[in-house]
Order: sequence, then C-alpha cells, then structure tokens
Amino acid sequence: MESMKSFIKFITISMFTVSLQATSYVYVEEGITLPLQNGSVLYSGSPVEVISKTADSKKVKLIGFVDINNKTKLYATQNLKLLLVESKSLHVEGKKGSFETELSNDFITEDSEEAWEITAERFYEKCTQCHAAKVVDEHTMLEWEGLYGSMNEFAKPTKEDTTYILRFLRAYAKDGIVKEVE
Ligand code: HEC
Repeated sequence: MESMKSFIKFITISMFTVSLQATSYVYVEEGITLPLQNGSVLYSGSPVEVISKTADSKKVKLIGFVDINNKTKLYATQNLKLLLVESKSLHVEGKKGSFETELSNDFITEDSEEAWEITAERFYEKCTQCHAAKVVDEHTMLEWEGLYGSMNEFAKPTKEDTTYILRFLRAYAKDGIVKEVE
C-alpha cells in the first residue's frame, strides 16, 4: 500500500514537471531571421524544445510540418503558413519534420512576448493609425490574409512590413501558436 502511494506520488510529480516545462522561443534582436553556420535559417519567435544545456548554450529541437514537395522548409502548423526553419538538413517523416541545433543563450528566450516583439511592434505601428488594434485571435490565419489584403490600400505597407505583420497575425491568430499575455 505504501509503495503504491509513493508510486502515485511519483507519477503525479513527473506529470507536473512535464507540464511545467516552459516553451522557449528563438529570439532575434534585429530582423526576423537567424542564419546558422551550415546555411540553415531559423525564424524569430519559433517555439523550441530545449534538449540539453551548457552554461552559455542550449541544444534545441523544433518540430513542425513540411511541404512534401519542398522538404527544406519547416512550418509551425499543418496549413504551412508560419515558417520556423529553412534547412537542407531537416529530419522528415511523412508530413512531419524536425530540426535540431545548438544555439547560444543570446538567441533563446522563455518570454513569448519578447520573442515576438519585433513583429508585434510593426503591427501596432502600422495598424493602429486609423482604428484601435484589432483583436488578433478573433480570426484564423486564413481570415487574416483576406483582412490584411483589404487594408493594403489604407496602410500602404512596405514588403518588410507585410512580412513582419503577417508573421505576427498568423502566430497570434485563433489557430496560431502563441497567445497574447494579458
Ligand atoms: C489609413 C487608415 C487605416 C490603416 C493604416 C489601417 N486600417 Fe484597418 N481599417 C480602416 C478603415 C477605414 C476600416 C473600416 C472600413 C473597411 O472595413 O473597409 C478598417 C477596418 C479594418 C478591419 C475590419 C474589417 C472588416 O471587414 O471587419 C480590420 C480587421 C483591419 N482594419 C485591420 C487592419 C490591419 C491589420 C492594419 C495594418 C496592416 C490596418 N487595418 C491598418 C483603416 C485603416
């Protein structure tokens, strides 16, 4: 009986530990891409799983979906709208894929807001001039594409604005991968 109790306690603690493990994100201070030495490119804000760590770097894994016709791009979701990694060395299994790399701590944050800040800033700068910021998670990624298109004429975004803002809208969309922190 006593051993059963401690077994249950062990299970409970293990489950708790797993669920407490915070997601980390790729952090880029300037721009939204992080080129790696081997020619691969990571995109800012991409969620990563920390596999192991040293004092100043971490081994991280990114998981997602690949286009079966172009196995060099890893996306966050099945609709292939939000890019995480471009690399010739993705590990691909069917529609799913993963990528592992060693990253300096400078490029990793546990704060999703920090990770997405550069794109969020662009959205607030460009999209609150005429009306209050629209609630991003009220629409899906696809809906946002249409809405964004209808704002082109008003907002006159540069190509870079569009890249940043669409990335932000897709990440925080109803079917996106991050939630706004209250
Ligand atoms: C120059 C002014 C202006 C800017 C800048 C602007 N908007 Fe708008 N937006 C409007 C006006 C005017 C409307 C209402 C008329 C309409 O729906 O066409 C509107 C409506 C909207 C709607 C509601 C549309 C609907 O069909 O319900 C969304 C969503 C939206 N804007 C998003 C954005 C986003 C995202 C940006 C940044 C890229 C942006 N807006 C920048 C003027 C602007």
